Amino acid sequence: MKVVEPAPWICSIPEYVPGRSKEDIARQYGAANPIKLASNENPLGPSPRALSAMRSALEATHLYPDPDAKDLRAAAARFFGCKPEDIIAGNGSDEIIDLICRTYLRPGDEVVIPECTFSYYAIASQACGGVVKGASMRGHHIDIKGIKASVSPRTRVIFVANPNNPTGTCLNRDEVSELISRVPGGVLIVMDEAYSSFVRQADFQGCTGLVHRHENLITVHTLSKSHGLAGLRVGFGIASGSLLKNMQRIKPPFNVNHLAQKAGEAALGDDDFLKETLRITWEGLDRLYQAFDRLGISYIPSQTNFVMAHIGKDASRVYGELLKKGIITRSMVSFGLHEHIRVSIGTPEENDAFVAALEEVL
Ligand SMILES: Cc1ncc(COP(=O)(O)O)c(C=O)c1O
Repeated sequence: MKVVEPAPWICSIPEYVPGRSKEDIARQYGAANPIKLASNENPLGPSPRALSAMRSALEATHLYPDPDAKDLRAAAARFFGCKPEDIIAGNGSDEIIDLICRTYLRPGDEVVIPECTFSYYAIASQACGGVVKGASMRGHHIDIKGIKASVSPRTRVIFVANPNNPTGTCLNRDEVSELISRVPGGVLIVMDEAYSSFVRQADFQGCTGLVHRHENLITVHTLSKSHGLAGLRVGFGIASGSLLKNMQRIKPPFNVNHLAQKAGEAALGDDDFLKETLRITWEGLDRLYQAFDRLGISYIPSQTNFVMAHIGKDASRVYGELLKKGIITRSMVSFGLHEHIRVSIGTPEENDAFVAALEEVL
């Protein structure tokens, strides 16, 4: 039988490697209650306001959701300090990344992506026939010079995660200004600010306030991390001018489901939940730093809700031994980093369990 061939560029797309699930590890190692610190989720669970909004919204799930997600976008506009018309909502920020690629890439266009960053940028780009150009980094930092050196007349899109996943570092104000001012006008700059709520670095520059001055700039946001709604899938793109209008043309009409819209709207107004999330994240990071110092493990100070640690040559073995103890972290092998693991910040108890297990394994 003749097989159905995919588009030629599909076959070379690298596989997305997700964090292992609790169920998976419970089954494989018989761990009673695995602790997942692998996907930078919110250890507090969903915001209580979001839960209550979802309960009230259940009765209306036989109806299609609002295709324009008006109330959700209005809440996002209040939260991010922009106008609702400058926002597009997506089924997670993954969908926003996907829409950007489907709207703006033609087969053969080049996409500049720092060498060690969120892997979905490359997948979404290549799915549209985009050709990925890796931008060299300065150690574990995204490097503007590296990005500029990778830009060519064929470059159409540049992806920058600020702060970056998996390194946890962020660009400062000067670096952001330099990037925006040096990139040619017809090249779209995507600033993915999935982790920006967690940043403590004083000279961090979020770009949402800049989109009106730069028609080639879009920022990307998610409620999966700081707002605890990873399982519901809510993300946003923020831009001005015609950028979003073009994306709207191909957006699936009902892409954000009714429960997600209601929960997202409520979570964006839940200041107490966000405050508590930041408090336990920052305390958790500081405690992990202390533990790593005590154990002689180096790490990259993080502006996010996770930290990457240099475990040494045995990182894969340490990752595997932690799994056996029911602690799920993230191996960095798929990022080409063979001596590191990445660990998300959990509750104080989860962080302590991770440190105790790590100490035993080491
Ligand atoms: C930098 C970055 N961007 C985007 C995402 C996707 O988030 P979501 O699709 O859950 O909104 C992630 C998820 O880990 C991420 O780390």
